[in-house]
Amino acid sequence: MSQIRLDKFLSGQMPEISRTGAKELLKKGLVTVDGVTVKRFDHKLDPEKAVVAVSGNVISYREHLYIMLNKPSGVVCATRDKVTETVMELLPPELRRQGLFPAGRLDKDSVGFVLLTDDGDLAHRMLSPVSHVPKKYFVRLENPVEPSAVDIFASGMTIDGDEKCLPAELEILSENECFVTLHEGKFHQIKRMFEATGNQVTYLKRVKIGGVDLDDQLEEGKARLLEDNEIKSLISCQ
Ligand code: URA
Repeated sequence: MSQIRLDKFLSGQMPEISRTGAKELLKKGLVTVDGVTVKRFDHKLDPEKAVVAVSGNVISYREHLYIMLNKPSGVVCATRDKVTETVMELLPPELRRQGLFPAGRLDKDSVGFVLLTDDGDLAHRMLSPVSHVPKKYFVRLENPVEPSAVDIFASGMTIDGDEKCLPAELEILSENECFVTLHEGKFHQIKRMFEATGNQVTYLKRVKIGGVDLDDQLEEGKARLLEDNEIKSLISCQ
């Protein structure tokens, strides 16, 4: 891997540390590279080989960022939009990085788990029509869920005349509430599936992507980095 500057490494690997903050740590002599204190911010290193520590704590190298965002309603899943607030604008400064984008979309009025990453390969594999990464949604409906919808969803229904859906799991929770797990992501898919059964979605929240649950401590509008085990789980479920 090509070499990068130590201040860039530190601010890139510790999202809470700015480039200026990284220089401060260096000046204070808190940073070691391969066991040797380094104070020069432009010191070059191979991020995959060098062992960098701050105050004795080794900083493990992450080439990419993987962020869980709990999207509120009224925000669009896009990198930019002239009119409406985007998911990118919700990120706190310490989690912003060039190249981040939402890997998969939720409608403007849907809420819940959006994955933001700068890992184009992972996003491409997750979004590819052949990957079928499961995505689980909590759904509230205008009318009671018909028990017959379970089999209709499981059989791979057709929507809007000719659009064939993959089999989906529907788990009824109460009269008007259920979980739906999809293995693809067609435009307004859950809304259209329920419309085809004569019902209307009134609230839609994505609660899980692959093996990773939306953190129930993460308030709407807030974001956090995925833990290592969550990243592994995402990578392995494709
Ligand atoms: N299905 C929908 O209809 N909307 C979403 O945002 C996600 C799945």
